[in-house]
Amino acid sequence: MQDRSRHELLTERLSLRRPVPDDVAAILAIHSDPPTCAHNPSDALSRRQEALELFQRWSDHWRRFGYGYWVVRRRGSDHQLGFCGVKSMDLNGMSVLNLFYRFEASSWGQGLAGQAATAVVEWASVRVPDLPVIARVRPANIASQRVAVRAGLLRAGHLDTNGEDGLDWIFAKNLPD
Ligand SMILES: CC(C)(COP(=O)(O)OP(=O)(O)OC[C@H]1O[C@@H](n2cnc3c(N)ncnc32)[C@H](O)[C@@H]1OP(=O)(O)O)[C@@H](O)C(=O)NCCC(=O)NCCS
Repeated sequence: MQDRSRHELLTERLSLRRPVPDDVAAILAIHSDPPTCAHNPSDALSRRQEALELFQRWSDHWRRFGYGYWVVRRRGSDHQLGFCGVKSMDLNGMSVLNLFYRFEASSWGQGLAGQAATAVVEWASVRVPDLPVIARVRPANIASQRVAVRAGLLRAGHLDTNGEDGLDWIFAKNLPD
């Protein structure tokens, strides 16, 4: 992994960049395609205004913390494949980084999310080493669980929690002793 700047991560196949207003259309396209939110219907979007508000929340997080969710592209391509990054949040009273990933369905099954999530978790372990990284995954979302494990997270059943769409299984790395 190469870390060119604070706002771009490069992997073997991917470029991860801080979102900009031109990414709003891709945020809407990916979040309004039913398969991408099948396990997390509360994340689904249907209108451009909703995508703009989500972009603004992502940007606010970047301004506040200096990191957040990246837009993922193949290296050398302008096309947005999806999103992957970490967000500061509270889990059962503990400050954590929430690992997120969502990719357009046509890109699935090529190892791209695993590669992006691995880069993000490595980045977090260097840049924000004091915080655990967690992923909240619906029990039936096998692909997402595999991505979390590939990125180095382990199942942490004692932290399981009810999320907006029902029970979330927790995967974690760097938990306090
Ligand atoms: C989850 C998601 C990001 C995976 O993307 P992807 O690019 O297909 O993932 P990868 O190709 O990197 O695969 C990673 C692992 O998952 C496995 N996998 C991928 N799709 C799978 C499926 N449908 N069933 C079982 N395993 C699957 C791969 O075999 C691989 O396993 P390995 O690490 O043991 O080799 C993608 O399915 C997605 O965007 N889903 C909708 C959004 C979502 O659910 N996000 C997570 C919310 S918690």
